[in-house]
Amino acid sequence: MKVKQQVREHFPTPVWVLDIASSDAAPFNAKLKDEIEKIISPRPKVPSGSNWQTPHDLHTRPAFAEFTQLVEISARSVAQYLNVDRYPLMITGCWANINPPHAYHPTHNHPNNYLSGVYYVAVPDGGPELIFQDPRPSLIMPWTGKLNPFTANAAAEQAVPGRMVIFPSWLRHHVPSNEGKSERISISFNLMFTNFAETAAKPRWKASAGEK
Ligand SMILES: [Fe+2]
Repeated sequence: MKVKQQVREHFPTPVWVLDIASSDAAPFNAKLKDEIEKIISPRPKVPSGSNWQTPHDLHTRPAFAEFTQLVEISARSVAQYLNVDRYPLMITGCWANINPPHAYHPTHNHPNNYLSGVYYVAVPDGGPELIFQDPRPSLIMPWTGKLNPFTANAAAEQAVPGRMVIFPSWLRHHVPSNEGKSERISISFNLMFTNFAETAAKPRWKASAGEK
């Protein structure tokens, strides 16, 4: 008996990786690092192993206008990919993360937003990746010696200066300990639909005849 098999990959979890050309990334990151340095100096005393953040309003500061524009352009292209670009997105928060050596960032997601992302300003040799956790409740995980996207329960994205990673805000993730010799500096951001209640959340159907 002949059987035709088809595979349909339903409910995929997309993660977008956008890389700035290294010739542009170096001067751009030097400028961002200078501006972040102005905000974080003098550095607060934080317990060893702790990461810490700037205020969450970098997208409103003129010094970060070019970065904000980069986020907006990237978000628009992601929204087009998802075919949701009829609903404008806005940045709801944007902040820098400072991970000194041995600092890590525990598992979390970004509630009340649609898309989130991170951009890498400085990553030491040996600096950690960004690890996403499998959102599927898959408790059976046969060990095959070589995992693939169907069998793995985590996925890593390399942190590279000049790289932006955008992901659904509900996707849980963490950053392992920074085993490099210097600070790992990144800028995170959240995006949500502007006027969500008035646009995307409205009923998409009409009452049928006779109903009120
Ligand atoms: Fe995060």
